[in-house]
Amino acid sequence: MAENQKKRLFSGIQPTGNLHLGNYLGAVKNWIEMQDGYDAIFCIVDAHAITVPQEPGVLRDNIHDLARLLLASGIDPDKSTLFVQSDVSGHSELAWILNTVARMGDMEKMTQFKDKSAKDGSERSSVGLFGYPILMAADILLYDAYIVPVGDDQRQHIELTRTLARRFNKRFATDGFVVPKGEIREEGMRIMGLDDPTKKMSKSASSEYNYIALSDGADVIRKKIMKAVTDSEPTITYSDDRPAVKNLITIYSLLSKKSVGDIVEQYDGKGFGDFKKDLAEVVVDFILPLQERIANVSDQEIEDVLSQGTESAGRAADIKMREIKKVMGLGS
Ligand code: AMP
Ligand code: TRP
Repeated sequence: MAENQKKRLFSGIQPTGNLHLGNYLGAVKNWIEMQDGYDAIFCIVDAHAITVPQEPGVLRDNIHDLARLLLASGIDPDKSTLFVQSDVSGHSELAWILNTVARMGDMEKMTQFKDKSAKDGSERSSVGLFGYPILMAADILLYDAYIVPVGDDQRQHIELTRTLARRFNKRFATDGFVVPKGEIREEGMRIMGLDDPTKKMSKSASSEYNYIALSDGADVIRKKIMKAVTDSEPTITYSDDRPAVKNLITIYSLLSKKSVGDIVEQYDGKGFGDFKKDLAEVVVDFILPLQERIANVSDQEIEDVLSQGTESAGRAADIKMREIKKVMGLGS
């Protein structure tokens, strides 16, 4: 069957709440575009989310909101598998096994832990936050995923996954794990803050003028775009020396499907007043219909899709866990 010849793809996204345009353009949009070409499994990684403290009720809402967004955006359950990580116990089971394969030396190199633990100090960070990349490796290796689309910040975690897969295969003289390949999104796919183009758009930014939330209304969107920082040059050109303008043109291009060249040409001789007014409408024209689709995804649909996803992911995970435990001599 043609279906079976497609390469297996796996990717995950954390249910962190207050999703913004950066999340959509950087992650969700790619997923939608890739689901036709691959045998895709998409996972809402709630077990990763608890590596930092979470309020249970808020976490539950965030998981459902993310599922709703993914379905409204076009994840098609007839083409892809969508499920919640903690519903398939193989993830934490395999993570434990990989904990015994990973070395302290591998882990101490992980820059994301250094960044994430810097705020509270590593003594106060959970061991789970330290082990986060091992759980991510488990997610990927559990499904024999070959292609793993991720943002640039996840490059090191993919490298670790490859190391663990190779080390395990060598140690147990098996080909039990597929050594995966990262599909790292290009730099252009990193959407920067509207108030500060040197940092990525982030829901934890100190000002709400940093991001466009997917829940923002039309007037708020217009206000945020009009206030977006530019620079002292009056023209609209696309270059690395003009990160603020480059970012706005990128957003314009991704949402309108016009090429960067066409946009630059369109605003030749015009100023930021015209450009921002049009950009605001491009964003509004994208977000309002998305909000309408989000509102139309029913709780029942979410439940059906996720339980179907759990069943199919769970089946694959069980087979892999049995195989891996057997080669290790684990179990009765
Ligand atoms: P986070 O909530 O930061 O873990 O992000 C969830 C997903 O959205 C990840 O795949 C990130 O790579 C992506 N993402 C977050 N912020 C941005 C951004 N500003 N630009 C592009 N992608 C982003
Ligand atoms: N750590 C990833 C991120 O923050 C999310 C993630 C968890 C993931 N498990 C994964 C991505 C497995 C790809 C494959 O973006």
